[in-house]
Order: sequence, then C-alpha cells, then structure tokens
Amino acid sequence: MSETFEREFEDRPVNPRAGRADGIGDIIARRYSRRDAFRLLGGAAAGTGLASLLSSCATTTTAQLPALTEPPRGVDTTHHVAGGLADRVLIRWGDPLFTGVSAFDPAAQSVADQEQRFGYNCDFLGLVPLPAAADGTERALLCVNHEYTIADLMFPGKAGREATAEECAIEQAAHGGSIVEIEKRNGAWQYVQGSRFNRRITARTPGIEVTGPAAGHPRLATSADPAGRHVVGTLNNCAGGITPWGTYLLAEENFNGYFMGAHDGPEAENHKRYGVPGGWYPWGLHEARFDVSKEPNEPNRFGWILEVDPLDPDSKPKKRTALGRFKHEGSESIVAPDGRVVVYMGDDQRFDYVYKFVTAGRFNSTERAANMDLLDEGTLYVARFEADGSVFWMPMLQGEGPLTPENGFASQADVLIETRRAADLLGATPMDRPEDVEPDPRTGKVYVMLTNNTARKADQTDPTNPRGPNPFGHVIEITEPQGDFASTRSRWDLLVRCGDPADSAAGAVWGPDTSESGWFGSPDNCAIDSAGGLFVSTDGDERLNKCANGIWRVETEGLERGRSTMIFRSPTGAEVCGPRLSTDERTFFLAVQHPGQDGEDYPGHGRPSTFEDPSTRWPDFEDGMPPRPSVMALWRRDGRRFSDT
Ligand code: FEO
Ligand code: CA
Ligand code: CA
Ligand code: CA
Repeated sequence: MSETFEREFEDRPVNPRAGRADGIGDIIARRYSRRDAFRLLGGAAAGTGLASLLSSCATTTTAQLPALTEPPRGVDTTHHVAGGLADRVLIRWGDPLFTGVSAFDPAAQSVADQEQRFGYNCDFLGLVPLPAAADGTERALLCVNHEYTIADLMFPGKAGREATAEECAIEQAAHGGSIVEIEKRNGAWQYVQGSRFNRRITARTPGIEVTGPAAGHPRLATSADPAGRHVVGTLNNCAGGITPWGTYLLAEENFNGYFMGAHDGPEAENHKRYGVPGGWYPWGLHEARFDVSKEPNEPNRFGWILEVDPLDPDSKPKKRTALGRFKHEGSESIVAPDGRVVVYMGDDQRFDYVYKFVTAGRFNSTERAANMDLLDEGTLYVARFEADGSVFWMPMLQGEGPLTPENGFASQADVLIETRRAADLLGATPMDRPEDVEPDPRTGKVYVMLTNNTARKADQTDPTNPRGPNPFGHVIEITEPQGDFASTRSRWDLLVRCGDPADSAAGAVWGPDTSESGWFGSPDNCAIDSAGGLFVSTDGDERLNKCANGIWRVETEGLERGRSTMIFRSPTGAEVCGPRLSTDERTFFLAVQHPGQDGEDYPGHGRPSTFEDPSTRWPDFEDGMPPRPSVMALWRRDGRRFSDT
C-alpha cells in the first residue's frame, strides 16, 4: 500500500493499546541508553548492541557488489539501476496471459478482458521452479500479488467522478494474483503467453474455500454463503510467500478499505479494531457484500492468508484461518530443524504486532501431497519483545490465559477472527507497522521490516521501537536459538535505524561507509541472499526521503554490518516490492507498484496524476498509455551472482 494512500486513509491507529509496552518500565531507558552509548562510541556496530559488536568482530567481511556504482538520490519519471547492472521489464499491467488475447488497449477495458491479463499494482513476487524444457531452457512460475487499483490512472475520463459499476468490477478483476510461466531465452527471462500454468485469481474469483478452525463458523456466514465456507475473491494482496512445498501464499492486507456502510450490531467492536468500514472504494454502492449494513459478516471473510497451488491450475484457493486474521503483510515460511513449518507474518498497522505460525505436522520432503493441508493445524504466536533482548512468542490458544469465553473467545475460531484483540489481551509489543518478516535459512536470523510510525509519541518509545515519531522506520533482527525457527523464546537486536545520517535529528544509525545514496526510509519488503546480503525495497515519501523508492542492499554481518547500498531507484510515485532472487542468484526480480501516483507531491508535475495527464508514463512512455505497474528483472553485466563479491 502506498505511503501516501496510507497517510490519507489510514492515519489513525486502531489499537487501543497504542504505544504501550507493558511491563518494560525503567529497563527500557537503561537498554536504550546503552545502545546510544555504543553509537556515540562510534563503531562498526553503532547502535546494534553488544552481541552484534562481538559477533561482527569474529566474522569475516561479507560480500558486496564492488562492480556496481550507486545511482544518485533523486526523483524523476523513470527508473535507474546501479552501474554494472542490466535490466528489462518482464511483464506489465494489461499484458495478455492467455492464447489469443490481444495487446493491451487501455481505452477498451472490460471485466472479461482484465481477467485475461496481468493485474494492477504488483506487490509480492514468488518463484516456483519448473523442470527445464527439452532444449535446456530454464523455466519457472512467477507468482505475483496485485494489491490495489487506482481508478484515476486506469480509466480514461475517470478523474473527478465516482467509478461506475463496470469500472468497479474491472478494478476487482485487476486485484488478486497472477501465476505466469517465465523462461530464460538468450540470457534473459521473459513471460510465456498461453502457458497452461497461467492463471488469474481476483477479487471476483468464486468458490475460494475457507479452511482451518474458523471454517463454517457462524461469524463467517452471509446471505450468499450461509455455511460460511466459500468466499468470493481475495482483497488487497500485499506480500506473501512460497511454501517449502511450492505453494503460493497471498496475504490479505487492508481489506477494511473495501467496505462501506454502518453496522452497530454484534460485530461492531470487532470491525472497529480492524478499521472496518474504511470506505476507500465505492464497491458497496453496487454490491451488497461490500456494505456492512447489509452483510455485517462479510469483512470477517477477509484478512486471511490464501494458499494456492500454482502447479495445478484447477486447484481451489484456500483461506487458511489457522494463521489468524489481521492486515497480513507477508507470509515467508521455513522448515524448522524438527520438520515443523514456521510462517512469519507482520500486521501492518501502526502499533500492531509480529506473529509466527508453527504447524502441528511436519514437512514431508518426498511426498508433496502430504503437505497440502499442513497450514490448517498448528499454533499461532504473537511476539513480545523485552528490553533485555528476549523475544517471547506467546501462543494464541482459546481457553489459555485471557482468551476465555468471559472475554468473548468461546472457541479458537473467535481467537482467529479477532486475532488483534486476542493479541492485545496477551500483551504483545505494539510495533511501528510490521511489514515483511524474512527468515535466513543460513543463519537462523529473521529480519523484520518496521516501515514507520508517525503516530508514536516520544513517551511511547521502547527499545524495539526507539523513536517517536518514527517517520523513517527501522529493521530488527531476531535470532532463533540454534536455528530453531519453531522456538518460542528468541533474541532480538536492531540492524539499522533508517533516515538521513547527515540529519542528527533523524536519529538514523547505519553501518560504516554508507554513502549519500545508501540511506533509505520506510523499509517494506526484503529478500536475503546466500552471503547475508539483505535486499530491502521501500515504500516511503519521496520528499521526506529526498529520493524515489528503490532497492537497497544492507550488509548483515561482519565489520560492514548495517552498511547500505542503492541498487535500484523507481520512477516517481512508485513503491518497490517483491524483491526475489532467482535460484542461481543471477537474476533479481522486483515489482514497481503504482508508478505515477501522487502527482501533486512530485515537483516535476505538481498537479493530480490522471490517465490523461500522468506524472509519468513509465515504462512505455507512449501517448495514450498510462503508467503501468510492472515486474522487472535485473542482472549483473559481469554475469556473476548478486551474492558474489
Ligand atoms: Fe501493502 Fe504493508 O504494504
Ligand atoms: Ca507498501
Ligand atoms: Ca508492503
Ligand atoms: Ca520477502
């Protein structure tokens, strides 16, 4: 979700516990000042704490990209890559996915047409390898989330009027996910129109199955689905994940924005905790299910993690309720040493929480089918970060602690439908908007992107969220003991505090030799390579950050820990998402989401960005063609891996 969109529509935290770090007290101040003392002493591990200072002394220097020259800070209408990188646009909004579908004509859109094309506002990128073709050509399935739509940039003549019923339906068809086969020909990846694997899942896809403990619960029943087991569509698919068995997870994030109307019945308090109804889209004018006065349970059917098998185009997508209901950002997963599977998740709202889900069953590496319902049974945990550097993962189990019938949790379904309220009662640590949470299989570390929180006040800070307000965000590193991702007790540390290191008021902390181009704000998604390079994509304010959004590589180990280098800069108005390395680490995929949004904020335009008058026409730069959210591929001109020195 774009930063400006968030600012305009989402500025109010909905957690009544905003900024309360229960039970930490004076220790906070002590730990915080110890950290600052390290920073003042000036060192490679500035602000990262004693543990990392010691570990960095014992570790050799990590990989970097010496052949690459950083792009300068700035904002303009096109993208820029580091010197030494080549790039190409792989697929754009509107590109045809199926045989016989013509080239995109934005003046001739229809629902049926959009359902045959790549969707809007690409966010998460996942890769599922396919066997090579007979001639040796590398193949894979690219799984792409389409988070939201911008009607003023999509439709001719739209600006200044309400979307029509047809336009609302086209927008629904541009949401969801795309599964697209890609192949590497003549050294470059391209997408395969007409592949039998190509598939669209949208906000209109019928028959999405609800599974797990909340399936069939009366609070999920609607007039169209009295059994509470089959939902039409998925909404606001932000980040996600690929499971160890090669399924595609789509996180449902700001689902509240699609609902309108008023409801003062039994779900009113529940809806309030999720910001329902958000009223960002007028869909409820045309469809009763988006009007909570008519269908008060419909919002309870969104905010879940959806699982899809990309290898079977006929498979039924499933909403896995065991993983909880909140504004799911991502869902990166990993196998713990004992074979259980762990899914890390952030709830992206100011003062909301970090979660992990641990399956009851174990991953079966020889029989794929045995894993297909692993996500229906297990334990959801919410994180409490302590001042002494511990993390307690608190199980969210009905009947335990405060999660009782007296508190409104009559069953595990209630705990999952109202995950946020359950986490409030457990005393989870309110965070600065948790986005992507990424485990590193190599080290047992887990990186948490905390994008920003301008609502945190100075007296609401705690060691894990040390700035109030926090307009730039920060990155936390969790260490799972002995690489046991299923552990319920971990350690945490700060990796970087974002912002301009030259501005002392910003309180930024970076590793040594971070250049003028190297700092960033508002970390959103990330990927980690086999040498410990953490690639962070951002979704921040161009003016605040004095730069368009992009991709930065942050070192996580050695004397250069916390050093950051820009490798990609987006065109104006965009956020950058989905960083994903190919299996051989020679190709770097990224998504440019909402290019050309926020025209008023870009001095080179200075007025609203519309279909007729956009702030950029990236990537086509053709008259009559609006900007198009697109997936790009980058590679090193020297042919080496992104993880190579
Ligand atoms: Fe859709 Fe939290 O970014
Ligand atoms: Ca975002
Ligand atoms: Ca995001
Ligand atoms: Ca990620």
